[in-house]
Amino acid sequence: MTVTEAAPRQIQLTEDGQLKHFLTLDGLGQPLLTEILDTAESFIEVGARSIKKVPLLRGRTVVNLFFESSTRTRSTFELAAKRLSADVLNLDINTSATSKGESLSDTLLNLEAMASDMFVIRHSQSGAQHFIAAAVTPGVAIINAGDGRHAHPTQAMLDMLTIRQHKGRFEGLRVAIVGDVLHSRVARSQIRALNTLGAEEIRVIAPATLLPKDVEALGCKVFYNLQQGLRDVDVIIMLRLQRERMEGALLPSEKEFYKLYGLSVEKLAYAKPDAIVMHPGPINRGVEIESAVADGPQSVILNQVTNGIAVRMAVMSMAMSGQVAERAAGGQS
Ligand code: NCD
Repeated sequence: MTVTEAAPRQIQLTEDGQLKHFLTLDGLGQPLLTEILDTAESFIEVGARSIKKVPLLRGRTVVNLFFESSTRTRSTFELAAKRLSADVLNLDINTSATSKGESLSDTLLNLEAMASDMFVIRHSQSGAQHFIAAAVTPGVAIINAGDGRHAHPTQAMLDMLTIRQHKGRFEGLRVAIVGDVLHSRVARSQIRALNTLGAEEIRVIAPATLLPKDVEALGCKVFYNLQQGLRDVDVIIMLRLQRERMEGALLPSEKEFYKLYGLSVEKLAYAKPDAIVMHPGPINRGVEIESAVADGPQSVILNQVTNGIAVRMAVMSMAMSGQVAERAAGGQS
């Protein structure tokens, strides 16, 4: 095992293996991922109540710190924290002191001085949340809401919950991830989660220019042809072209990309008849997915959004109780 794989495990788990930060799925085993899914399952019922609250984070302060824009992730983290009865502070970094030259460490020190218990952080720099978790006051939990191209562990876990709800299991499943894998932290976390949970086969389908060099080493098979890659799959995960992270021309044109890799009703027919179609959002209709597929009977894209709240409730409550347990045991963060 390499140093980079070992380091996150030490930092995000307590001595007895409880979650205390949630930074990456690397180093987390199948029992812990299953515990997250089971805990999330128990929170789904809370979302269906007329009073959608449980007191697990009552009196706690959660700060949403988003250095990159977000709609779904930020609002579902906020709703999740509120449903756990936490006090929630949303910091818009564009209008905060960071834009006046304050360093990330100084911003955090000031927020810690307000007695925050948890930071939910999205950052364009891979590894920013690891750096913060290593530096933060003991007892404060760090949750990764997406770092650069590296990881987006809560997105992967809400995707796993959606797959488990529709397919009932991971064993024997063939899953295809299609599109801009190169820039996708979501894809990296999904591949890790699917391998840990025992999916039979993970395929990535994309032009060579949109695949990371080492992609097979992550534990997946590469296909350059959409029709071939979709054959017999149970789950299709479409990805957006992340133009904002692209340097130079990686694609001939969006029109050409859609022709070859866009998921149309016609191409969907190559997958199993009961295959589900997923997308982390935001979707670009007519670029990676046809509207008739996005809105069609096999699409579970909006279920993913709903599941995001329950999964984030699970991760936040588990990390907080890990922090509390560690402090009670007199351990160091
Ligand atoms: C993704 C992200 O931000 O990594 N979206 C999300 O969190 N729902 C993927 C994307 O931006 O394309």
